[in-house]
Amino acid sequence: MLGHCWTLLGITPDLKKDGDWFRTTLGGRSVFVQRFGDAIRGFENRCAHRFYPLRTSDKGNGPIVCGFHHWHYNQNGHAVGIPNCLELFGTHPLNVGAKLVTLDIATCGSLIFGRFPGGRSSECLEEYLGEGFPILNAMCAMPGRPQRLNDRIAANWKLSMEITLDDYHNVAIHHRERYARNSEIGYFRFGLHSAHFTGHADTLASMSMACRENRYSPSDYRIFNIFPNLAVSIFNARPYWFCHVQLFAPTSPGQTHHRGWLFQTGLPAKERVLDRWTRPFSDVSRAYLVRHFTKKIGDEDHRACEQMQTIAHQFEGSPILGAHEKRIEWFEESYEAAMSRGEAISDTRRQERAKGSTVLTPTGSGP
Ligand code: FES
Ligand SMILES: [Fe+2]
Repeated sequence: MLGHCWTLLGITPDLKKDGDWFRTTLGGRSVFVQRFGDAIRGFENRCAHRFYPLRTSDKGNGPIVCGFHHWHYNQNGHAVGIPNCLELFGTHPLNVGAKLVTLDIATCGSLIFGRFPGGRSSECLEEYLGEGFPILNAMCAMPGRPQRLNDRIAANWKLSMEITLDDYHNVAIHHRERYARNSEIGYFRFGLHSAHFTGHADTLASMSMACRENRYSPSDYRIFNIFPNLAVSIFNARPYWFCHVQLFAPTSPGQTHHRGWLFQTGLPAKERVLDRWTRPFSDVSRAYLVRHFTKKIGDEDHRACEQMQTIAHQFEGSPILGAHEKRIEWFEESYEAAMSRGEAISDTRRQERAKGSTVLTPTGSGP
């Protein structure tokens, strides 16, 4: 049902060359994204002929040719090559009219988002992200090879998303020395999304404006939670600013594939001459240390979610949310709203299918 929401699918550094593609999931369904010249296209990973998966590995390069009977699709998803077509289907390939399900695709910085078409909302990605769009655009200009952090979490994706919205667990789970004070944190809500700002140097609106005008200079930790399953944070690893992009892709009700990208941003840093001179060496050790600590914190979060999952079937009633869990409440509200929109769509689909089948049955063709 959430496949109609704009969802992060992958990153442009993975589609550098013409014909590069990667496989991922959207709303729990297998999809793939591919470069055709200047265009990036996305398709459901399912052949129109007998539903074989067109891509059977995570990435590669080359035309869309199904491995089952060699149907060949073009960049618009039309089957343009069908072996022995005249003999077997009595017509030319284009007259067969076979077509892949094509995704809506849009980018923000190096992030590639997609959604299944036909949802209730016609918002483009920029409208969907609202004030977050210029921010992600500025933060997520990735280098050619960001570091990658992948993990399998034995918990529902919502638990993983919620722990990134929770500023109360730092002492118990991450062994911090003290709890944050309300005055140290600013929360912002925009559309279905939300953000946490440490410090009050600026607001979401002023940061968004500064990013849009290409003059944003980071001062504190920030995290942006983009509905449904994306979290993007910025933090300082002296003196430079790093960005961590995290995607929590559901693979089953109790399993989540955590995909992370970690990189040093080009945003202004308080760099001294010594920093500049030592960068060729310090960049290597800094990248290593950032990875080490990011992974450690991630592991602590993931294991906490797995503990919750062990009794997820016993969750009853509403949790008691404190001031530093405010954004979990917002996320749940977004989830309710998006799911009820999704339900309305699948109801329409079911009705259409029911109508369609009564028409198709008597004239259904072939043995
Ligand atoms: S299932 Fe793809 S060509 Fe037959
Ligand atoms: Fe955490």
